[in-house]
Amino acid sequence: MHPYRATQVSEHVWWVGAVDWNMRDFHGYLTNRGTTYNAYLVMGEKITLVDTVKAPFCGELLSRIASVVDPAEISYIVSNHAEMDHSGGLATVIEAVKPEKVFASQLGARALAEHFRLPAPVTPVKDGEQLDLGNLRLAFAETRMVHWPDSMVSWLPGDDVLFSQDGFGQHLASSERFVDQLDASIIEYESARYFANILLPFAPLVAKVIDRLPALGIAPKIVAPDHGAIWRADLGRLLGWYAAWTRQSKRRKALVVYDTMWNSTSLMAHAIADGLESGGASVKLMSLKANHRSDLLHELLDAGALLVGSPTLNNNVYPSLADFLTYLRGLKPQNLIGASFGSYGWSGEAVGQIKEHLEAMKVELVHDGLRQRFVPDAKCLGECAALGRTTAERLAARIG
Ligand code: FEO
Repeated sequence: MHPYRATQVSEHVWWVGAVDWNMRDFHGYLTNRGTTYNAYLVMGEKITLVDTVKAPFCGELLSRIASVVDPAEISYIVSNHAEMDHSGGLATVIEAVKPEKVFASQLGARALAEHFRLPAPVTPVKDGEQLDLGNLRLAFAETRMVHWPDSMVSWLPGDDVLFSQDGFGQHLASSERFVDQLDASIIEYESARYFANILLPFAPLVAKVIDRLPALGIAPKIVAPDHGAIWRADLGRLLGWYAAWTRQSKRRKALVVYDTMWNSTSLMAHAIADGLESGGASVKLMSLKANHRSDLLHELLDAGALLVGSPTLNNNVYPSLADFLTYLRGLKPQNLIGASFGSYGWSGEAVGQIKEHLEAMKVELVHDGLRQRFVPDAKCLGECAALGRTTAERLAARIG
């Protein structure tokens, strides 16, 4: 097999993960730039592997480990998170390494057992517990629901490395391992996209975890996530982004999402966008024929208004809207104003159905739902533009 190399992260830590250049669908999230599954070797007297990789990448992981140390020298494996992009290779790695012990959070130990029926039980560790590696200590902090019930992070004092699991990651395949080696705008883009599509439902919990770190004595110089590039400088920039994203801070920006059957809903969407723009809002007009659901969530991260349009097809929203609305509701966006709109031919249920989704998400409605039978006339397009202007004014009043 092709030999892979490890990358040194700090005095005692090596990156030994895998690069998945071709990953594009991460449970419904379009990962345009692929991803990495990061695993880390801690070279204490008790050599410890923090996390593994997705199952097909075990050979790559073991090869990178072998570039530093014989994998059989590993004493401990720590699983920070049971999701299979990080634990899928665990059984194979246990077989190859035969570690003395495998550690996970209490819920992680149960989740790993239910996933893999491992040959030996996983040892549960408690929140705040420390693992003695001889010359080093590895401390654990539970981060329940950031973003799974089992999730925890590991902290290596001395080297001051926080193994932050899915937190602070990006889906980004690259030959560079560190944020400071990569284009800053790409890092910001992919970090925001990752937050919007993975962490958004847990935003308040992410904020609590970050707030709790100083009390746990965790003051990282290096943040080593389970996906993408590693932060070893400029952590203030990263924490600044997370402060805004966890609060779901908004700009005077509106997202108009729609699909169209015979162009009528598209005409309405364009008129609404025109009204928003004339009212001073920044606008993203996004057709579901041209944009993926994860593009929309990314744009919504800092948008204060959401206007959603659909034709009515067989008494329902258009199929692409059903997809978008289901995905959107699961990600629990907050702090939005908005409205529904659309053209119809016979009965026109779609606009009301979208309104129900918006209400369920506690979106503050600007309009009861703007419907037009068949093709919009000048009066309808004027109402659409007025809806856009009203929305822009409400945004300005909320955001300033
Ligand atoms: Fe990257 Fe929740 O797994």
